[in-house]
Amino acid sequence: MLSYQHAFHAGNHADVLKHVTLCALIRALSVKTRPFFFLDTHAGNGCYDIQEQGHHDEVAARFLQETSQTPAIIVDYMRLIKPYMAKLSYPGSPLVAWEMLGLLAQEKGADQNTFAHVNMHISELHPSAYSDLKQWTSHSEFHCHHRDGFELLNALTPPKPNRGLVLIDPPYEQVVEYEQVVESISKALSKWQNGIYAIWYPLLSQQRIDRVSGATVDTPKHGLSEKMLLAFTELAAQHKIGLLDIQFAHQTPSENVGMYGSGMVVFNPPWHFDSTLKSALEYLKTLAHAGASDLSKVSMLVDPP
Ligand SMILES: C[S@@+](CC[C@H](N)C(=O)[O-])C[C@H]1O[C@@H](n2cnc3c(N)ncnc32)[C@H](O)[C@@H]1O
Repeated sequence: MLSYQHAFHAGNHADVLKHVTLCALIRALSVKTRPFFFLDTHAGNGCYDIQEQGHHDEVAARFLQETSQTPAIIVDYMRLIKPYMAKLSYPGSPLVAWEMLGLLAQEKGADQNTFAHVNMHISELHPSAYSDLKQWTSHSEFHCHHRDGFELLNALTPPKPNRGLVLIDPPYEQVVEYEQVVESISKALSKWQNGIYAIWYPLLSQQRIDRVSGATVDTPKHGLSEKMLLAFTELAAQHKIGLLDIQFAHQTPSENVGMYGSGMVVFNPPWHFDSTLKSALEYLKTLAHAGASDLSKVSMLVDPP
């Protein structure tokens, strides 16, 4: 059941979009000096060896170049992944969050290792991924849980302090996971309406070539992300809160490409977050294959009140 291994995908275009968005959200939350809550429901292994896995060329993060035009949030992201990339490794979402907090603390001249103002939780269900995660975050102040992330979200909401961010990044190996995300957001919103919830999802081509028969067949999970977005839109409208969607197409959809891109949808996006992400996305489009960049977009699905 838990067969997904993020090591095969670490640092790819989906991670770049997800982790840039994560950095931008942590920066936005840190503008005020007030404490906040952070939960990463599907934390993964913590850190990944990108050489060993033999997918070096797929690591989109390697192709980012810093120029005078690079948006500030991409510069943040590039600076924090740089020491890992130099060792042919790539940080997972908990370490991205941790390094981002370190970068912000440095900017403020504070002690890099004091994050007492952040109540931080990460969860991972897979036993060996959890064991890696525990090791990779042993130096940090994360509360590391070997637990179902959806269940933990329900247990910890409403959190203390009452402002904060939840990152939800399931593998979506099973169809039921799409429904679980909607259900858990619905439950969490009914208890904690002002939380920021950032959910990653895949963009899948409508058809694919079956590896065994070589025939072109319908992609079984095609349309499920779009259905989930519709449910999110209804939830945000019902709760009268903002909903922002960011989609990054790395390739054009075709039967040769399963996942052609991915999206991040954000409930309660911070003030002006759409413009921050628009400039980040313009920059990320330089990583996309020819023809794909027209499919990338930032859309406010429900306007904030
Ligand atoms: C896409 S990976 C996470 C990657 C990580 N968030 C990052 O950005 O570096 C999804 C992870 O969720 C774990 N997982 C699957 N179902 C879970 C559940 N119900 N609760 C917590 N973790 C789960 C998988 O073992 C896998 O490590």
